[in-house]
Formats: sequence, C-alpha cells, structure tokens
Amino acid sequence: MKAQSGAEDRTGTVRERRSQFELEWLGGPAASRLRRRRPGVERLPWGTLDLSGFTPEALLEARRVWTNGAFTEYASAAGFTALATALLESGAPIDLVAAAADCAVDEMLHAELAARLVMELGGAAPFLVDLEKVSPVTSEGARPLLRAAELALKISCVGESLSVPALTTSLRGADQPLPRAVLRRLLRDEGPHARIGDWFFAWAAEKLSAEDRAHLGAVARAAIEVYVPSERASCDCRPPAALGGVLPVDQRALLAEAVRTKVIPGLARHGIDATVQ
Ligand SMILES: [Fe+2]
Ligand SMILES: [Fe+2]
Repeated sequence: MKAQSGAEDRTGTVRERRSQFELEWLGGPAASRLRRRRPGVERLPWGTLDLSGFTPEALLEARRVWTNGAFTEYASAAGFTALATALLESGAPIDLVAAAADCAVDEMLHAELAARLVMELGGAAPFLVDLEKVSPVTSEGARPLLRAAELALKISCVGESLSVPALTTSLRGADQPLPRAVLRRLLRDEGPHARIGDWFFAWAAEKLSAEDRAHLGAVARAAIEVYVPSERASCDCRPPAALGGVLPVDQRALLAEAVRTKVIPGLARHGIDATVQ
C-alpha cells in the first residue's frame, strides 16, 4: 500500500494528516446486528496461537502483515460502499446494489477478524493512514455509470480477483489453527466479491460506448500497477508463512501470474483491453 503524504498549508509547512490505524468496537445493538447477519465468528479458535517458536523480529513482521491486512479489508469496505453509491446513482438493479452493499459488510467483518488476530499476535504494528483518503477516486466529471464501471473494475475485477490467489497462498503456508481459520473465512467471501464486477458489466454492456471501454482499459492498467508492486517497491521483509505471511518476491510472482491468467482475460470478455501497451 502506498504511503499517503501530508498536505501543504498556506505557510508552506507540510501538515501530517496521517495517524496510527486503529479500529473500535461499539458493542450493544450494532454488534448484535452484525453477529446475527454474519454468525460464526466466536467459533473461530481464538486464544490458540503458539508464538513460542518465533523471534521478536518474525512476530513484528507477522503483526505488520495482519495490520496491513486489517487496513486492506477496511479500505475494501470503503470501495464497495463507493460502488454501491455509484450504482444507486446509475439506477442499477436492486439486487446488484444490494450485493455491493452486502460486500461492504463482509469486508468490515474481515477487518474485525484481521484486527483480532493482530491483537493475539501482540498488537498492531506502526501503520500510518489518512482515513479521509480511504475511498477510491474516480475520473473527475465522469457520469455515474462510468464511475460505477471504474469502481467495479478496480475493486472487483482487479483487486478482489487478485486477493483470492494471494489468500490461497497464505493459507497454504499457514500451519496454526487460528490464521488458517481466519484465512478460510476471508476466502469464503472473496470469490463472490471478485464476481460482482462481471455482474455489473453484464448489466451495463449496452450502456458503455467504445470510448468508455478504451478509457476503462487505461483505468485497469493503472489499477494493475497499483496491485502488483514493482521489484523496486518491494521490501526485504520475511513474514513467517506459518502465521499467514508470504515473501514479497513470491507475492509479486503470484499476482503477476493471476493478472495474466485471470484479470486480463476476464476484462477482455467485457471488451476491455487491459494488456500493457
Ligand atoms: Fe475481504
Ligand atoms: Fe473482498
């Protein structure tokens, strides 16, 4: 995830707008409602982590992975919320709008699971964010349908499609019951999240012009660049696989492969060319 920079005020001083990422839990009726809608969280094997075989450095890497994971889930909730809003403004079908909003609820549950796992690992790693910038941006002046298309493409066709192989790889390496159970729960929901983009483009097919599709190809290429980090952007960190970590070099290779075999062919089926030119 890219670091967000501070804004410059009138005196030219850069103001730091980021702060440590933290999540709160309200409890009461709000919590009961979420538990009724998404049951089973309390049955996960909380309290079973055995951290005795890990160095402090390895544990810090694991805390970084899952702190980043909690934020990624939170940002995905912002993404699906923006998509639901753009769909509403486009007059999209009831069930499609409801599916996007429902995905946002899934993502908040995922944020909770990742955050609880972080707490069991010893607490959040330092992670600065500017939550005012958490929602995805769309092209200025674009009509609602094109904004919805940009969001469906970036969030579902690219982002969620890549999260499925990334989580599958993490699950393969994880060997303790809690990270395995959390990863399995995340994976269960990510499949439908990756398909909502296809549902959108099936509905919007007749409403998008050749010019729209050319524009969406450029949006897709930019999104792919964000999701698949370059070699230079990579760190030399070694998060422990047993706790859900994947080496950056392996992560990059598997994401690049998923772009080639899943994302680009998927978008091509909707007349969107995302091949690097
Ligand atoms: Fe998620
Ligand atoms: Fe998701």
